[in-house]
Amino acid sequence: MNRPSGFITPRRVIGAQLLFAIYDSLVLGFSNRFVWKCPTRRLLAQYDDMASANHLEVGVGTGFFLDRCRFRTAPSRLVILDQNAYTLAHAAFRLRRYSAQAYQRSILEPLKLGDPGFDSVGINYVLHCLPGDIAGKAVVFEHLARVMNPNAVLFGSTTLYHGVEKNPLARLCLAAYNRLGIFCNLDDSLDGLKKMLAQYFSETRVEVIGCSGIFVCRG
Ligand SMILES: C[S@@+](CC[C@H](N)C(=O)[O-])C[C@H]1O[C@@H](n2cnc3c(N)ncnc32)[C@H](O)[C@@H]1O
Repeated sequence: MNRPSGFITPRRVIGAQLLFAIYDSLVLGFSNRFVWKCPTRRLLAQYDDMASANHLEVGVGTGFFLDRCRFRTAPSRLVILDQNAYTLAHAAFRLRRYSAQAYQRSILEPLKLGDPGFDSVGINYVLHCLPGDIAGKAVVFEHLARVMNPNAVLFGSTTLYHGVEKNPLARLCLAAYNRLGIFCNLDDSLDGLKKMLAQYFSETRVEVIGCSGIFVCRG
């Protein structure tokens, strides 16, 4: 039978579930701590502090952070977005207690999510996967700024190549991931990230922990 390449089959679903379990334990459990030196609990703390009851999550992945997040106010509107149908379905199921609305979209395209806007936007570990240099990735913030309410906060993190300290394991993984096309961050620098965020937001804060640039933006 001829099936379109994006067709969801039981075999692919099982394979994807396995990958998600590996992602949560290997990337969030091991790599964040020992390779990128940016513990997952630090990233989660940002969600606890900033995710609002009206939240948009971009590149939701396995949904780990929203699942573990201790929302100050339980979400009344939780929108999750990812270009990958498998991660999106997995995260939507994991977050079903919040009735998360899932959109299969690329953040490189303008978001048409309708009114109203969002009070918080999370974009964690997505920028380093996007093609192009950091200036080219700026289009993401142009799209996100358009769907944010006036006092909304945007927060997230990305693995940087320049302007951060890399241990030998991090150098090895960065080289391999960039070669395999898992990451695309050989041109991403701390300075570039700061400049790009300042282009779109009046208030920006970037903190470096290990190889990660952790950012919070308003205005
Ligand atoms: C490294 S994972 C991070 C997942 C999650 N945010 C986390 O921190 O665990 C990157 C996620 O971004 C998604 N992604 C990559 N490029 C994207 C794009 N252009 N638009 C939307 N999502 C994208 C991937 O499918 C993946 O789920």
